[in-house]
Amino acid sequence: MAHAFLLFLLFSCIISTNIHACKQTERSSLLSFASTLSSPPLNWTSRDCCRWKGITCNQDGWVTHLILPSKGLKGGISPSSLENLTHLTHLNLSHNSLYASLETQFFLSLNRLEVLDLSYNHLFGKLPISLPSSNIRIVDLSSNHFIGAIPSSFFQQASNLTSFNVSNNSFTGYVPSSICLQHSSPFLRLLDFSSNLFNGDLAPGLGKCSELQAFRAGRNNLSGLFPEDIYNATKLEEIALPLNSLHGAISDKIVNLTNLAILDLSFNHFGRMLPLNLGKLSKLKFVTFDFNNLEGALPPSLMNCTTLVELHLGNNNLEGDISKLDFSRLSQLTKLDLWHNNFTGTVPVSLYSCRSLKAIRLAGNHLEGQIEAEILSLKSLSFLALSYNQFTNLTGAMKLLMSCKSLHTLILTSSFVGEGMPCYDDMVDFDGFQNLRVLSLGYCDLTGQIPVWLSKLKNLEMLQLGFNQITGPIPSWLGTLPRLFRIGLSNNQISGEFPKQLCRLPRLLYEPIASQVDKYEFELPVFGRTSVSPIRAYPSQKFSFFPAMIDLSNNNISGYIPAEIGQLRLLRELVLDANNFSGVIPDQISNLKNLEVLDLCTNHLSGIIPSSLTSLNFLREFNVSYNNLEGPIPTGTQLQSFNASAFEGNPKLCGAPLPNKCGPNKDMEVDKKNNKDVENGLHQHPWFYIFTALGFIVGFWGVCGSLVINKTWRYAYFRFIDNLQDRLYVMITVRISTMKGRLRG
Ligand SMILES: *[C@@H]1O[C@H](CO)[C@@H](O)[C@H](O)[C@H]1NC(C)=O
Ligand SMILES: *[C@@H]1O[C@H](CO)[C@@H](O)[C@H](O)[C@H]1NC(C)=O
Ligand SMILES: *[C@@H]1O[C@H](CO)[C@@H](O)[C@H](O)[C@H]1NC(C)=O
Ligand SMILES: *[C@@H]1O[C@H](CO)[C@@H](O)[C@H](O)[C@H]1NC(C)=O
Ligand SMILES: *[C@@H]1O[C@H](CO)[C@@H](O)[C@H](O)[C@H]1NC(C)=O
Ligand SMILES: *[C@@H]1O[C@H](CO)[C@@H](O)[C@H](O)[C@H]1NC(C)=O
Ligand SMILES: *[C@@H]1O[C@H](CO)[C@@H](O)[C@H](O)[C@H]1NC(C)=O
Ligand SMILES: *[C@@H]1O[C@H](CO)[C@@H](O)[C@H](O)[C@H]1NC(C)=O
Ligand SMILES: *[C@@H]1O[C@H](CO)[C@@H](O)[C@H](O)[C@H]1NC(C)=O
Ligand SMILES: *[C@@H]1O[C@H](CO)[C@@H](O)[C@H](O)[C@H]1NC(C)=O
Ligand SMILES: *[C@@H]1O[C@H](CO)[C@@H](O)[C@H](O)[C@H]1NC(C)=O
Ligand SMILES: *[C@@H]1O[C@H](CO)[C@@H](O)[C@H](O)[C@H]1NC(C)=O
Repeated sequence: MAHAFLLFLLFSCIISTNIHACKQTERSSLLSFASTLSSPPLNWTSRDCCRWKGITCNQDGWVTHLILPSKGLKGGISPSSLENLTHLTHLNLSHNSLYASLETQFFLSLNRLEVLDLSYNHLFGKLPISLPSSNIRIVDLSSNHFIGAIPSSFFQQASNLTSFNVSNNSFTGYVPSSICLQHSSPFLRLLDFSSNLFNGDLAPGLGKCSELQAFRAGRNNLSGLFPEDIYNATKLEEIALPLNSLHGAISDKIVNLTNLAILDLSFNHFGRMLPLNLGKLSKLKFVTFDFNNLEGALPPSLMNCTTLVELHLGNNNLEGDISKLDFSRLSQLTKLDLWHNNFTGTVPVSLYSCRSLKAIRLAGNHLEGQIEAEILSLKSLSFLALSYNQFTNLTGAMKLLMSCKSLHTLILTSSFVGEGMPCYDDMVDFDGFQNLRVLSLGYCDLTGQIPVWLSKLKNLEMLQLGFNQITGPIPSWLGTLPRLFRIGLSNNQISGEFPKQLCRLPRLLYEPIASQVDKYEFELPVFGRTSVSPIRAYPSQKFSFFPAMIDLSNNNISGYIPAEIGQLRLLRELVLDANNFSGVIPDQISNLKNLEVLDLCTNHLSGIIPSSLTSLNFLREFNVSYNNLEGPIPTGTQLQSFNASAFEGNPKLCGAPLPNKCGPNKDMEVDKKNNKDVENGLHQHPWFYIFTALGFIVGFWGVCGSLVINKTWRYAYFRFIDNLQDRLYVMITVRISTMKGRLRG
């Protein structure tokens, strides 16, 4: 019995080695594949290739699986190297650095292939005329460098295709609706064409993909109408077409798509009203229509979508009294973004019962009334932007909001106009706004001084108080706020001097240690611009996107620019124009190696332009016009690349780019000495109250800007946050300039 068992063991052992013994031809095919890789070695040395890493064979010793994702493989795949692996069903070489063109043989003999994943490589060239096998189910060629059109014959045999992903390549031509044509792919579930150069209309055909669950073609150049027959694809759960040029109305027929959970049509030209019965889509979770031309009121039925998690309708022409809408059933709503529309009424009280809300942006509408105490029931509220409306009772609103424990971002720019700066009597006990990182009260015409309670906001990173009627000095405690890096105090009546303490702002002295870098992001993307260059406006959720800045322009600040300013090594924008600064431009400004913007114009600065300024390599904007500067403009540097207008209004200044040439200059030495004397004088001054105004203008755009971005959505288009492309940039700036017109007007 025991013998029999042993014998059986031995036998099965032999059989099993036989089962897996690899065929010699397969072995040499694999070795020929490995030989074309430049690194790293695959360690394919043992005799039996079926035991090699990444290889699986079938019972007859044919290789069926070649699975080597994320192995750091580099090098070319020669077109013929896989041609003899005719039993291959699974090929997964994703996330490597492989070069190859699929144009020729690569596929042809692999007619048993079911799964092909070559995503995240450096594959190039056009696609072959057809997919290799009628067994093919999954094709992922995304994130490569393919070009050309997808041949209409490509899917001819692919009747079992379930998933096709070519996103993030450079394909051109039409989105191949032929993929759905009758009998070709009855099982198709996922189609991802996003982030390519596809253009033209979306031809009809998708409606025939009766099992289609996700259709993505965002970030292309698609135009024309939304194809009507898509409403026949009733299994659709996701439609994502952002960043195209589609137009027309969103049809009432959309109610046919009862499974729809994600609908992203942002950055297109869709117009007319939203479908009245949109609310019949009872599974909707993420709805994103930002940057279209939608009109009319919000369909009340939308308030029946109890599963709604995010609703983004920013930058359309929507209107109507939103206080009439009943939000109370949207218990899962986390983000509501209605910025820049024509909505009227008050903040709907029912909104305060959406207990999951994290972000609310109602900026840029015609809303009025007060913030109600019920807002305190929104325990997760982290982002609140109410700017550019006509709300009243700022002091009341702030008294409430200071108890919102989760509040990180509060943007009230130009929304409570002409009131007093809120201040609180019981300063000793003040413990409000404990987590506030961003505060904007800009463009509110507020009167009063910079309030002392701000000194208790130890988490404050960006402060915007520009465009008010603030008087009095810049308090020196501002320089002690441990996280502050962006200060906007421009266009007030601030007086006094630039406080030296401000030159010790901790966040601007040293780079934080990597482990302490805070990954916090805005819940909704915000448009930033610099004070100097309003055209530079991008949407971003990252704080790091906003450069460190001190903007004190257009105030009555006098005295010297302290030499200590040279300590703020991380400062990127220093904007001091239109004040009463006197004395010299301190040499130490040249220590601000990260400086991109330096605006000192319209002051009473004298002496020379320190030649050390030429070491500021990142300077993008520079203006010292209308001062009393003298002597030659330091030459041979980028200072010459600025327009003469950056220097004009200083009669004694000479040299390029100014038209007046410098004479043979014996005054130079004297001037240098002058600068020294004044500096020395500066150092002797024991106290200077220099009042700084930090200018940060998340204000305007920051406040209302929004583009919906959710980390959980993996739409290709969200990439632009990191990797802005010109097209989007142009698109946004064009939209913004029209928007600006309206908001200003
Ligand atoms: C091959 O072996 C070397 C050394 O053990 C190892 O560094 C390398 O990662 C292996 N290659 C693969 C593809 O596993
Ligand atoms: C594939 O097989 C053919 C015929 O046996 C042979 O000529 C060719 O060299 C093989 N190719 C590779 C890459 O092994
Ligand atoms: C390929 O391998 C990667 C890494 O294991 C995996 O995430 C991916 O889903 C695989 N592709 C397919 C189509 O199964
Ligand atoms: C499609 O897949 C099924 C199994 O899911 C298989 O029976 C059928 O043969 C495949 N069709 C083709 C044309 O390969
Ligand atoms: C397609 O591939 C990309 C990666 O290149 C991925 O982010 C995306 O989620 C995939 N699409 C679908 C529908 O799975
Ligand atoms: C797009 O493809 C490129 C090239 O393969 C890759 O480096 C990049 O990470 C991809 N982008 C995304 C967001 O997947
Ligand atoms: C987008 O398509 C239009 C025509 O519809 C064409 O004029 C334009 O050049 C295309 N843009 C790009 C970037 O391909
Ligand atoms: C939707 O499908 C039905 C049949 O199922 C067909 O009669 C109708 O024409 C299709 N609609 C469109 C717009 O293709
Ligand atoms: C809606 O779907 C049904 C099938 O569920 C189909 O018969 C009808 O034609 C569709 N309507 C439109 C407008 O596509
Ligand atoms: C919301 O749904 C209820 C029933 O579920 C229905 O009676 C009501 O008419 C719907 N409201 C709208 C505006 O569609
Ligand atoms: C808002 O409405 C006014 C007049 O009612 C109109 O002129 C304006 O274009 C609208 N703007 C937007 C963005 O809706
Ligand atoms: C302002 O708001 C506070 C807090 O909500 C409230 O107590 C006060 O009555 C309001 N003031 C006016 C004038 O409405």
